Amino acid sequence: MSLDAVLKRIDETLPEATDRLLELLRIPSISTDPAYKGECDRAADWLVAELSALGFDAAKRPTPGHPMVVARSKGEGRHVLFYGHYDVQPVDPLSLWDRDPFDPEVQDTPRGKVIRGRGSSDDKGQLMTFVEACRAWKAETGKLPGNLTIFFEGEEESGSPSLIPFMRENADELKAEIALICDTGLFESTQPAIVTMLRGLLGEELTIRGASRDLHSGMYGGAAMNPIRVLSKIIAGLHDENGRITVPGFYDGVSELPDAVRAQWQNLAFDHAKFLGDVGLSEPAGEKDRTPLEMIWSRPTCDVNGIWGGYTGDGFKTVLPSEAHAKISFRLVGQQDPLAIRENFRAYVRSMLPADCTVEFHGHGAGPASQMEIGDPAFEQARGALTTEWGRAASYVGCGGSIPIAGYFKSILGMDAMLIGFGKDDDQIHSPNEKYDVESFHKGIRSWARILAALD
Ligand code: BES
Ligand code: ZN
Repeated sequence: MSLDAVLKRIDETLPEATDRLLELLRIPSISTDPAYKGECDRAADWLVAELSALGFDAAKRPTPGHPMVVARSKGEGRHVLFYGHYDVQPVDPLSLWDRDPFDPEVQDTPRGKVIRGRGSSDDKGQLMTFVEACRAWKAETGKLPGNLTIFFEGEEESGSPSLIPFMRENADELKAEIALICDTGLFESTQPAIVTMLRGLLGEELTIRGASRDLHSGMYGGAAMNPIRVLSKIIAGLHDENGRITVPGFYDGVSELPDAVRAQWQNLAFDHAKFLGDVGLSEPAGEKDRTPLEMIWSRPTCDVNGIWGGYTGDGFKTVLPSEAHAKISFRLVGQQDPLAIRENFRAYVRSMLPADCTVEFHGHGAGPASQMEIGDPAFEQARGALTTEWGRAASYVGCGGSIPIAGYFKSILGMDAMLIGFGKDDDQIHSPNEKYDVESFHKGIRSWARILAALD
């Protein structure tokens, strides 16, 4: 097999590969919104058709939620499973998009060509890097690379509710020697990276209730407790003056970085000022005496993702509302136990409730942090391949985001997972005007071809 020929074919067929990605991006597969259920189904069908045409034995697999796509190609070499997700985040606020999020296009920008549209970077563009590497390989050699299982999920952006049962029920079929996950980014947008640490995530929604109905704030103001005031005080109390989170027991299971990891991170020479400066900020807002890199990779957080209540429409209304709401999430590290934190958070909120106020909780996802083992030779083989492709040494890095399946590969299927992705910090994932650099797409495809050759 000639890797050079495969790489050349990838270069020559980039326009067609891009067109196929645009086709997938036109399907609005928003997993969290039931109105798009049919579209999620359509994205799964599209992938099954693509993979079948490439020679995979591919099928759409039903779940109580959105379908999975599982495809198999039995060849020689190590059995590798590739994971990506075809679902995307909602587009709102739609008014901040410069074009229809599901009418993607390739745009020329001062920083190079980009593919603009929802899901271009997270995660359709990324999962297609692998599919396109397989296509070029097959076209050049007559067969698909190695011994592959492809596993695409359609619920990653909405907490993966069907994932654990599906993995358990289909464990024999899904188990391979190693998993590849393409849902992360480059380090500082330029340097190839393999993610070894992911934070966990706990989501909590709460409603504080006071009076039995909304009141006139002139008639009752002063005498009646305002639930927004109660909620604000609860939220304000979640961090102390040093930026530490005050929920009792919150730091149980959080340990200091091993010296070797700390030294390796120092070598990465992360540009803290640029990281914050690029989004119009200058002061790190986390715990005092921690670097921003620690804050996003190895320290836990508490963030309010949404807060509402009372009158927020145009004009003004002197209302004393009967309810106040917030959505709060915690990013978790080390051995922090999401369920223990949920209980402790709820107890903290209850302890702050004044007379006449009640609280109702609604729990969202709860998953622990995960730490990858990197002893398998595949890690160094992939690192070598990435270094050659990008002309810069690939590094082991952390990631502040959460990808629930990474931990499940180990705990349910007993396999290590290697997280490699080509997203950039300015891709605006989950935000308006999401994009994926054509360079990420092109070199991403080339990277997988090189990695598959190195694993061969
Ligand atoms: N692709 C992201 C994970 C990610 C985030 C990688 C930031 C690199 C940088 C993934 O699709 C994602 O957004 N995950 C959610 C998980 C959640 C909805 C369970 C997250 O991290 O918020
Ligand atoms: Zn993603």
